[in-house]
Amino acid sequence: MTDARERRVLSAAQTVELSKRFTLFDWVAQTKISPIPVLYAKGVYFYDSDDKRYLDFNSQLMSVNIGHGDARVVDAVCKQIRDLAYVNSAAMTTEVRALLGEKLAGLYPGDIDKTFFTLGGAEANENAIRIARAVTGRNKILARYRSYHGATSGAITLTGDPRRWANEPGIPGVVHVLDFYHGTTRPMDSADQALTALEETIQLEGPSTIAAFIIEPVTGTNGILIPPDGYLQGVRELCDRYGILMIADEVMTGFGRTGAWFAVNHWGVVPDLITCAKGLTSSYVPLGAVGLRSSVAEYFNDHVFAGGLTYNSHPVGLAAALATIRVYEEDGLIERSAEMGKVMMRHHEELAARHPSVGAHRNIGLFGCLEIVRNRATGEPMAEFNASSPEMAELASFTLANGVFVNLHWNQVMTNPPLCITEAELAEGFEVLDRALDITDRAVTG
Ligand SMILES: Cc1ncc(COP(=O)(O)O)c(C=O)c1O
Repeated sequence: MTDARERRVLSAAQTVELSKRFTLFDWVAQTKISPIPVLYAKGVYFYDSDDKRYLDFNSQLMSVNIGHGDARVVDAVCKQIRDLAYVNSAAMTTEVRALLGEKLAGLYPGDIDKTFFTLGGAEANENAIRIARAVTGRNKILARYRSYHGATSGAITLTGDPRRWANEPGIPGVVHVLDFYHGTTRPMDSADQALTALEETIQLEGPSTIAAFIIEPVTGTNGILIPPDGYLQGVRELCDRYGILMIADEVMTGFGRTGAWFAVNHWGVVPDLITCAKGLTSSYVPLGAVGLRSSVAEYFNDHVFAGGLTYNSHPVGLAAALATIRVYEEDGLIERSAEMGKVMMRHHEELAARHPSVGAHRNIGLFGCLEIVRNRATGEPMAEFNASSPEMAELASFTLANGVFVNLHWNQVMTNPPLCITEAELAEGFEVLDRALDITDRAVTG
């Protein structure tokens, strides 16, 4: 850690200034941001250039699942770069590709046993829909409104949330369907209601025109939406009935975030295609993956796979993934996420009991969220759909000033720490949130 301090060549202010002047930041007007100049990170903490410590309550982008600075992954990455940094992925293969392919086949749900490697989640989803269209010979893709699937042109078209709006028109053939969740002012649908609406959309669109339905099994940035029991099984059944491939986007939920290797495991559902990234390498190195069921993969035995990437199966990414998976296994992090999820639920319940502005809370494993409201009776959110509010902004500033990095989305406070977090560290984060919620409590009207 001290090494990072000794090696630095810029002050904190210079780092921020040059980054803003010479690089673009995501999803924001560039004058509206003040990024934290991070120097190093270890475990559940990261440190800025002034050595201020922050508890990472969002695992950065819900992705550093094993925690920061794990020497086992760092060493594996360094060793791979020294031995072999890169090969042509079409004409050559590597030991690490063979080993990770085999390892993932054993971890994926059901008979998913073949992988196409990409650089991240959006590319994984692009290739999943390419595969679904090729295999079914159909064009349309169904996706849900409250979803995020990435920012490349296909993936942002699949995305149902407002990040899509400025990117329209996107690729042809994408149809959005409503979710079981309708915000804080209306009740959630039952599984039956949601499935009836989904089937009606399928009927109206023409089942024989639909290649795939892509869903986040537990929706991530749009609010940790945990499906009612029976919903995912019902989706699987409808897909089977109409010859539609089910794509589970597990970019955020995969690799232990929900207390299981994959979120679909909670409901015993096997999708036809599964997409991963983030926790696959815990973001130490960029890597994404599309897992194919054998019944889907076999199509490409005699048909050309009409896709490719310079960085398909990049050895360094694969080495990071193999080492990261070993960390999950050695440290029991998947089971730990399930156990600590129960502790998180108790913290959520305590906050809801103490703070009138906590209108709802949800978590599955260490994938959690609080819904902040102005009025519990009406469910009026503390920030409107696709907006922030002064109270939410103040809450964010307070948590940051008090050394906890929390991700806010509209009226929602996300609680997604690394899976290695201890009870004491979790309590530390919730203690700061407890004080921060006094801010939103003051705006409660009923
Ligand atoms: C569910 C889901 N799918 C896809 C993506 C896109 O992944 P990437 O940013 O690696 O392209 C994300 C990113 O947050 C995600 O949460």
